[in-house]
Amino acid sequence: MKVLVAKKCGFCFGVEHAIDLAGEMLAEGRNVYCLGDLIHNKFVVSQLIEAGLRVVDSLNEIPIDPTPNGKDTPTVLIRSHGCRPELIQEIKQRGFYVADATCVLVKRAQNLVRQLHQEGFGVIVVGDPNHPEVQGLIGYAPAVRVVAEEKDLENLPVSSRWAIVSQTTFSAEDFAYIVGRIAARNFKEIKVLNTICRETTRRQQSAIELCRQVEVMFVIGSLHSANTRELAQICQRQEVETYHLQNWQEFKPLYIEGKATAGVTAGASTPDSIIQEFVGNLRQL
Ligand code: F3S
Repeated sequence: MKVLVAKKCGFCFGVEHAIDLAGEMLAEGRNVYCLGDLIHNKFVVSQLIEAGLRVVDSLNEIPIDPTPNGKDTPTVLIRSHGCRPELIQEIKQRGFYVADATCVLVKRAQNLVRQLHQEGFGVIVVGDPNHPEVQGLIGYAPAVRVVAEEKDLENLPVSSRWAIVSQTTFSAEDFAYIVGRIAARNFKEIKVLNTICRETTRRQQSAIELCRQVEVMFVIGSLHSANTRELAQICQRQEVETYHLQNWQEFKPLYIEGKATAGVTAGASTPDSIIQEFVGNLRQL
């Protein structure tokens, strides 16, 4: 089978940085904890757990250090999605170290939310209210509104000054649509800041290019990864048969029945080894 791979796919620099930081701290022998999975990939997370990373749901699960500021003091790793500023304060108050792997592009969005509020704007974050990045972003100013779809605009007061930013992994197309709907609502003033990550946009553009050349698309990555799910939806919108799979083990031969060319792309939290295994096996068929 002829298999084409998207020019841009797989790990982004934000995810790479988080994994490297975790690896370096574990190699130094530190007690490293992470609130939730470090990245949306079970394979990578289990490798880090084997190396000593502890994944917890809450700070209450981390034992208080009897000898603060020592080598054994727990270090809490902030994921590339970032978090609310109060969480960092709480980690410090408990006497733990903070290792901040917030992606620089998420940090930029956080700083903008704070700055726009200080400039007197009401802040709208376009994104998924359940995504950890969005839950962190709304902590950078009071009364931030989250808009995932048009119906979320219904209760916005008219004649206000609104500033709009986006979840970094949101689709550019959906962001443009929501911004258009906000513009149509006759607000007194709106300011739009494009905080969509260029790594995400490049992955989406190369997936669209690939869809034009193949009969079936495979999007590889976790079902919980927002940017991977977004890639799969974008491919479906190009009207190409699309399968979102986590790895080669989920592949079924019927997916390629009667087809001669396939495309492969992958989300920003999918390691190269999983992509290569998938592509290698598909090419053999
Ligand atoms: Fe950062 Fe974009 Fe990756 S926001 S974590 S470089 S998907």
